[in-house]
Amino acid sequence: MSSEFSFLGQWFGIFTYLGHHVLLHVLALLVVYIFANEIVRSRRRIPGLKGPNGWPIIGNLREVRVDAAQKYRDWAETYGDVYQVQMGDIPVVVANSPAAVKALWITNSQALSSRPQTYTFHKVASGISGFTIGTSPYDESLKRRKKGAAMALNRPAIQSYIPYLDLETKDFVKDLFSYGKGGTAAIDPLPMVQRLAMSLACTINWGIRMRSHEDDLFKEIVEVEEEMNRFRSTQSNLQDYIPLLRLKPFNSQSAKARQMKARRARFMKQFDDELRDKIARGTNEPCIQASVITFKEDKLNETELNSISLSMISGGFETVSNTVGFSLGFLAQRPDIQERAFEEICKFQEVSPGNSPDPLCDAGDDQRCMYIVALAKEALRYFTIIPLVLPRESIRDINYEGVVIPKGTTFYMNAWACNYHRDLWHDPEVFRPERWLEQPDATLYTFGLGYRMCSAHMLAQRQLYLILMRTLSSFRLEPHGVVDCDPRTSKRDPSDLIMSARPYKILCIPGTARDWHAQSPMSTSRSLLLLHRTRGPVGRRMPRTLAVAFPPAPTQFILQ
Ligand code: HEM
Repeated sequence: MSSEFSFLGQWFGIFTYLGHHVLLHVLALLVVYIFANEIVRSRRRIPGLKGPNGWPIIGNLREVRVDAAQKYRDWAETYGDVYQVQMGDIPVVVANSPAAVKALWITNSQALSSRPQTYTFHKVASGISGFTIGTSPYDESLKRRKKGAAMALNRPAIQSYIPYLDLETKDFVKDLFSYGKGGTAAIDPLPMVQRLAMSLACTINWGIRMRSHEDDLFKEIVEVEEEMNRFRSTQSNLQDYIPLLRLKPFNSQSAKARQMKARRARFMKQFDDELRDKIARGTNEPCIQASVITFKEDKLNETELNSISLSMISGGFETVSNTVGFSLGFLAQRPDIQERAFEEICKFQEVSPGNSPDPLCDAGDDQRCMYIVALAKEALRYFTIIPLVLPRESIRDINYEGVVIPKGTTFYMNAWACNYHRDLWHDPEVFRPERWLEQPDATLYTFGLGYRMCSAHMLAQRQLYLILMRTLSSFRLEPHGVVDCDPRTSKRDPSDLIMSARPYKILCIPGTARDWHAQSPMSTSRSLLLLHRTRGPVGRRMPRTLAVAFPPAPTQFILQ
């Protein structure tokens, strides 16, 4: 027995010795790795440009992990408007003021015409299936795709989409009305506006509508695109900057990215097949893909066509919907702004006193009600839903105030800091649409600037305008429970690429802020109950045209 114990003891001793030995080797390797990496990291810094030093291996990733745009804005006070940070060991130049952005994005527009490529999004989630336009580096193919997108998103093209815009915004108002049970049920409007934006993008690209936010296909696209946009976040994907994390077992992101890529490919193919089928039967609607498929001379290959489709879906859906998502929650708490908007719509429609405006407004009106234009711009400024725009990469050396920033450097435009900069506005923290009436030509940074500025900024502004016109002339919005849409404190996940508001619920009460203010100060539910008893389900307050357009809410919906 004792000899057995001594045998086991010997083996235990050997293992312990080996274990320590291996551990020591691993530790030694780690120290060498950190040391070597630190030398590389300091050599990669741009000489002459200030910036926080950061940590070994991770650089400044730890400090910007949560709300990067705000951190960059804070650092500008210490290091100036333009400074460098390091993501891992990769140097990034961050511009935080209107003057700095002008000097870099406008004066050096051509030099800043490329996009950096990242491991998670470009190599794993996109692979050879192609990138969106907004994530593509500068080359001949990008120029062809940008030309195609520009033709599909210029002013005359937008004019031809008015019937689509009309239909989708009408359906949106209808959704607010019917899911909101005539103003008696609290709703989260986000899925409804997501449907609107996605349906418009799908119609323009494939001539195919997305009819309901309850469709499985709709839910699938929302889930996949939200995840895909997370892979594009500049600070969430640590493996983009720390190659060691790409190895198993540290790497959890890649498997998810591959999954999303496969799911995305499935629904894209479904749309492509449906369109090809319609073209074969001659039943297709005019749309981008049909025009390119039918007229082969456009010379866009399969991957380029796919890239345009991906750009329409990924660019056109989360952006408009999240801006509206923030806006409706915010406006629900600001009856004063709703009331002013209503008055301006009445003035614009030349409605005589005491009467209501046409709640569905004219879809063909090209942003002539200036207060609503200003309101849409203020929402774009105040919520700045892509605070760091999309990263750029320089294709030439750039000289900035005597510092040579080498070709191949990544640049971030802090649109959040610029939109809130005191060189532009004395009261940037205040939501005040009037600022755009006072200074209509002031720069808005939300769509980026220069050669890679948002290809669809005109379409996006027109969508926002019509959504706000129709919503605010059809409903009075009221918060239900806690609604926090302050973009400084209540983003759903501040590390996302595209910001969204924390989920909330509102009441969309047919009628307008002015109607209800004119009423006695009784509580909304009591008013509704009285209206219900004396004037039918939603009462006289429901604008006539709206009542004709949509059936009234069934009686049982009231005060459920
Ligand atoms: C509120 C709505 C929107 C916002 C805030 C927004 C914002 C942006 C931003 C910040 C960029 C990068 C600009 C830069 O690097 O300077 C961008 C690029 C782009 N956006 Fe939008 N966007 C919106 C709506 C749309 C819509 C509706 C579409 C398509 C239907 C779209 C398509 C694109 C495309 C294709 C690009 C890539 C341009 C390029 O890289 O050359 N966007 N957008």
